[in-house]
Amino acid sequence: MRVLGIETSCDETSAAVLGGEGEVLSNVVLSQDEIHAPYGGVVPELASRRHIETIDTVVREALDRARAGLDQIDLLAVTQGPGLIGSLLVGLSFAKGLAYYFKKPLIGVDHLQAHIEAALLENPGLPFPALALVVSGGHTSLFFLEKPLSYEVIGRTRDDAAGEALDKIAKFLGLGYPGGPVIEKRASGGKVKAFPFSAPRMSDRSLDYSFSGLKTAALKTIRDNKISKGSRRMADFLASFEQAVVGAVLDNLGRAVSERPAQSLILCGGVARNKRLRAEFEKLARAERLAFAFPSPKLCTDNAAMTASLGLKKFRALGPGPFVPDLGLNAYPRVSAPAE
Ligand code: KG4
Ligand code: ZN
Repeated sequence: MRVLGIETSCDETSAAVLGGEGEVLSNVVLSQDEIHAPYGGVVPELASRRHIETIDTVVREALDRARAGLDQIDLLAVTQGPGLIGSLLVGLSFAKGLAYYFKKPLIGVDHLQAHIEAALLENPGLPFPALALVVSGGHTSLFFLEKPLSYEVIGRTRDDAAGEALDKIAKFLGLGYPGGPVIEKRASGGKVKAFPFSAPRMSDRSLDYSFSGLKTAALKTIRDNKISKGSRRMADFLASFEQAVVGAVLDNLGRAVSERPAQSLILCGGVARNKRLRAEFEKLARAERLAFAFPSPKLCTDNAAMTASLGLKKFRALGPGPFVPDLGLNAYPRVSAPAE
């Protein structure tokens, strides 16, 4: 059994081949960072144009590294949404073309569920029920998984995502794109309590997130304290802001633990690469005496191995029987697929 995964939801063109036991035979990720960096954020049209130029090479490379021909692929898995519509359509159309030509089953995969899968791929024995926090550039969502493949969204951001807030502040300060890793690097050695930020809270006590207030407070702090690229207090400011984002992200998870009967906690998505967030998440899980998992850094950001792995699980869950590839599969830009 060989699964080919394709992921083009945002600004990474990725293809991966997995074996039948979920082993990653190849996972090729082509970043578009240098294309979007001058703009300080992803430019959707440029992202889709780049995907269409590179998708064939990336898929070919993934097959070559796995020493597999297209005729040896038994299943195709592709990201269906959420993401940038133009980007999603490139991967989806490419996967459909292959499924049609090679008469192979095709499974559509939700991108946020795939991020959760990245943690399970490396920690297959994690106990359920689980609470999973997806923190990325486009999403900040909290899921409750009663059992494998059952996803209930219990909180999501009402405005910016956590990664987006980091990216926007980095852009404002002229630090480069993507902002998360730059902020992490420049914050090192800074004092986290140098600049106070109050924790965002929903007035209705829901588990939803909001980062726009934190972003506005950060912009005001930058102006009031005249913080700029060469400024002496830059590390202190960035450490304080990074800590505020980490605190906001984990605050809701802490509350969710008391509301849901979870046995384990999952942290995933691009922002889960952040060392401060990983350390504080681990501290929370240990304090709650819960099992926990986060993907290794390269599986936190967008990649097709997680897409292929979830596609394989979904395919197996369908049970035996003739499988007709759903060539009517369409992309969805915003909302997650309904719970299955
Ligand atoms: O999951 P991802 O690759 O794409 C989306 O699905 O959005 O996440 C990208 C996000 C960006 O906002 C980037 O700034 C953030 O992940 N990120 C980080 C770090 N590495 C990437 N944020 C904080 N610390 C990092 N080390
Ligand atoms: Zn993502």
